[in-house]
Amino acid sequence: MEKVWKTIIEPFRVKTVEPLCFTTQAEREKVLQKAAYNVFAIPADKVLIDLLTDSGTGAMSAQQWGAIMRGDESYAGATSFFVFEKAVRDLTGYHYILPVHQGRAAERILMSVACGPGKTVISNSHFDTTRANVEASGGAALDLPVPEGLDFDVPAPFKGNMDVAALERSIRKIGVKNIPMVIMTLTNNSLAGQPVSMANLREVSRICRQHRIPLIIDAARFAENAFFIKLREPKHAGRSVREIAQEMFSLASGCMMSAKKDALVNIGGFLALNDAEWVARCRELLILTEGFPTYGGLAGRDLEAIAQGLVEVLDEHYLTYRLRSVAYLGDGLRKAGVPIVEPPGGHGVYVNAKKFLPHIPPSSYPGQALVCELYRTAGIRSVEIGSLMFGRRCNGAFVPAPMELVRLAIPRRVYTQSHIDYVIEAFADIAQRAQKLRGLRLVEGPQRLAHFTAKLAPETA
Ligand code: F0G
Repeated sequence: MEKVWKTIIEPFRVKTVEPLCFTTQAEREKVLQKAAYNVFAIPADKVLIDLLTDSGTGAMSAQQWGAIMRGDESYAGATSFFVFEKAVRDLTGYHYILPVHQGRAAERILMSVACGPGKTVISNSHFDTTRANVEASGGAALDLPVPEGLDFDVPAPFKGNMDVAALERSIRKIGVKNIPMVIMTLTNNSLAGQPVSMANLREVSRICRQHRIPLIIDAARFAENAFFIKLREPKHAGRSVREIAQEMFSLASGCMMSAKKDALVNIGGFLALNDAEWVARCRELLILTEGFPTYGGLAGRDLEAIAQGLVEVLDEHYLTYRLRSVAYLGDGLRKAGVPIVEPPGGHGVYVNAKKFLPHIPPSSYPGQALVCELYRTAGIRSVEIGSLMFGRRCNGAFVPAPMELVRLAIPRRVYTQSHIDYVIEAFADIAQRAQKLRGLRLVEGPQRLAHFTAKLAPETA
């Protein structure tokens, strides 16, 4: 038997480095004031460790940079397109592959073709842009997560699952003809990056086939999901993660992917489908707004990097390091007395700010207060997923979000264990004085998607 080592080894060595930017606490206080306590307004060179997102922030490999040099920039029929098409087809098994500039472009195109007024798309949880694109087409987006997905304290292996009984009830109530598709988001980003089991995906697939409703996978983090299946669903323990991923895709009729996550690139995405009629209409829209179907808003070099990334992301040494380093952050925070969504997800740890700062009511944005304190204390940037993002302000009345979370999303292959140790140390420091933290008030913000542009100010005692 091979010895299992306790130390997390990053399965790469460093070839190119990028310096980190150090600031003093006094500087950061000024930066925060100038940014009106909104971390989206902070210039990146004032951030030491950036955990705002895992999207497009990963490091490419030497092989990917090599592939970039091979990029064929022909307008039509570039060889890079065929390399890309083969990589996506071999992985997903879908026939038609349309490149797009990022995930939300695939969403917009598919929703314009398949959704619309009177239609309802059902998902384990729609990501924000997916929901926004369903709604922009005139349709409605319905989330049906399993109940344990909403219980942040109790760990369970597959909290990203869909509630299949609720799916059957909803299909009966809404009617098959009003449901253009069911979307399974793997992993479930809106619910703390929790995975979906193969058993759940298979059951959802069976119900969809029975009613002839297309099942579409949001594949942004498909590899992390597949590895969770290998680790947590005993039946799949002996299989390669690639085989598991291929089986996941075989249960659906197509997928949308933001390549900025599990294709290990900084930009890109695709739509992969089997339905020729949908594809014909999608292709028309693709040409209208993204580009000719053999580049779809990307450069040939981007297509090469995606093709290579889709192979590398299924390396089990990489995935072991990926999930263990996120879990390591979770362990450290738990030990420091910081309540997190249990268990840690695939791409990050979500801190439960409602529990950590119970003295700050949702109307004073406890999640954002923690986001600001983390920046002030240690130059770490995170993102609030709570009442600033999802709360509603209608006619002076405040409707809080159901949760007050802070997401610490880990970019892929970027930070090492010592960076994560530093994040844990910063949290341990804040935990000592958590009860002294004060809330924020909203000074200015639009009705929707306020978190990107809102201006806030500290509440005075
Ligand atoms: N689907 C999921 C599950 C996502 O997490 C994202 C993006 C998208 C679709 C849209 O893809 O950004 O390429 O247009 N998530 C990023 C995040 C923004 O920070 O979680 P995109």
